[in-house]
Amino acid sequence: MDRLRISGGHPLVGEIPISGAKNAALPLMAAGLLSDDGLTLANVPNLADIASMADLLNELGAELTIKRDENNQGQTVRIHAQEITNIEAPYDIVRKMRASVLVLGPLVARAGEAKVSLPGGCAIGNRPVDLHLMALESMGAQIELEAGYIHAFAPKGLHGSRITFPTISVGATENAMMAAALANGETTLINAAREPEIADLAKCLIGMGAEITGAGSDTIYIQGKPGLSHTNHSVLPDRIEAGTFAMAAAMTSGNVELLGAKLSHIEAAATILKECGVNLTETERGLRVSRLRDRLVGVDVMTEPYPGFPTDLQAQFMALMTTADGASMVTETIFENRFMHVPELTRMGANINIHGSSAMIRGTSNLRGAPVMATDLRASVSLVLAGLAAEGETIVNRIYHLDRGYDQVENKLKACGAEIRREKEA
Ligand code: EPZ
Repeated sequence: MDRLRISGGHPLVGEIPISGAKNAALPLMAAGLLSDDGLTLANVPNLADIASMADLLNELGAELTIKRDENNQGQTVRIHAQEITNIEAPYDIVRKMRASVLVLGPLVARAGEAKVSLPGGCAIGNRPVDLHLMALESMGAQIELEAGYIHAFAPKGLHGSRITFPTISVGATENAMMAAALANGETTLINAAREPEIADLAKCLIGMGAEITGAGSDTIYIQGKPGLSHTNHSVLPDRIEAGTFAMAAAMTSGNVELLGAKLSHIEAAATILKECGVNLTETERGLRVSRLRDRLVGVDVMTEPYPGFPTDLQAQFMALMTTADGASMVTETIFENRFMHVPELTRMGANINIHGSSAMIRGTSNLRGAPVMATDLRASVSLVLAGLAAEGETIVNRIYHLDRGYDQVENKLKACGAEIRREKEA
C-alpha cells in the first residue's frame, strides 16, 4: 500500500488547478444508463472511484471510452449504454464504493428492473438507502430486499409522483431525479438536496432532453420523457477539493490561486474562513487564498446540508483549527461517526476533546509530525494538511482512501513548494 511522507513547515505558494467534482461525476456517469444514445462527460477527475463506476457500468452492458485531457488535469469519458445486458450491481463492487447505488434509479427507469447490493455502512456511518427506495416505490417500483440485495421491478415503467423527503439526501435526490426523467408524467421532489452537484446533474439531463426545473432549490419538478439522447457535458469544479486546498494554504501561511474554483459554491466555508482570518478573493481564473493577519483565530462550525457548511470539509477545518489561537467547537450533524481523524490529529499534538457530535479544539502553535493512519477520504486529507503545517516529518499510511477523492494530491501540493512524496509502505 502507498503512503505519503511529508516534511512540514513550507508555506504553499503558487497555483493549484481544481479538478472536476467527484460527487458530480459519479451520478453523471450513472445518468449515462438512461439513454441508448450515449453521453460524453468532460473534465472527469482521474480517481479510483471513477474507475470503479466505469467498471460497474461495463458490467451492466455500457461501453466506455476514457481519454486523458491534453492539459493532463482530467479525462473525457464517453458512455454508450446501447443496451442494458445485465441489471445486477454486485456486492463486491458496491461495498467498495457506495455511490454505486446511484445506478438503481437509472436501471429501473431504463430496464424496468435492478438488482443492486445494499451498500452497507462505511467508516463514517450506517448510511441507509431507505429514502432512495421510498422515492422509487412512490414512482411505482416494487422493491424486495433479499440476501443483502435490493431487487426493484417496474415492468410497466415508472409513473410521476409527489415525493417529500423527510431528511435531505443528496443521493436519494439524484436517484429520484434520474428515475423521474424517464417516468410517465410529472414528479415533484420536495425537501430535495440543493448541492451544486444536483444542479449540474440536472443540467446534463436537460442536455439529454429531460424536462427539469428547480434543481438547486429544495423543490424540483421533472416531466418524464419516453427517451433521452446524447449530450456533451463538462463536470463542474470540485468545491470540496477547492475548500480543502484553501485550508491547506491557510494552515501553511501560504498564498495560492485555486484555478477553476467558484466562490459561490463554497460561500458558507468562505464566510467561516474569513472569520478565522483567511482571505478568499475571486480572481479571473478562480480564487486566491491568503491569511488576513499573522495568526488565525478559532471559530465554531456546525455542518449542514448545502448551502450550509459542508460535512465533507469538517475534518479539514478541524485540522486548520488545531493551528489557530483560541478554541473552536466543531459539530457534525450529517454523519454519526465522522471524527476518525481526531485520534490521529491528537497524536500530532492537537488538543481536541469529543463530546457526542461535537469536538472542542484548543489551538496550538505547533503540531509535531508523526506516523498516522488514514481511515476515510476526508479524514485522510485532514492528516495531510496537518502534516504540511507540522514541525518535522509525517507519514500518512493507507492513502488509498485519499486516491478515491483527490486527483494527484501530492503533485498539486509539491508544485506549490510542499515537501511531500508518495512511497510504497515498507
Ligand atoms: C453524498 O453522500 C456525498 N457522496 C458525500 O460525500 C457527502 O458527505 C454527502 O452526500 C452529504 O453531503 C456522493 O455524492 C458520492 P446523503 P450521500 O444521502 O448521498 C442519511 C465524500 O467524502 N440518509 O446526503 O450518501 C445519511 O445516513 C462523501 O465525498 C438516510 O437516512 O449522503 C446521512 O446521515 C462522503 N437515508 C444523511 O442522510 C437515505 O436513504 C445525508 O446523507 C439516505 C441518506
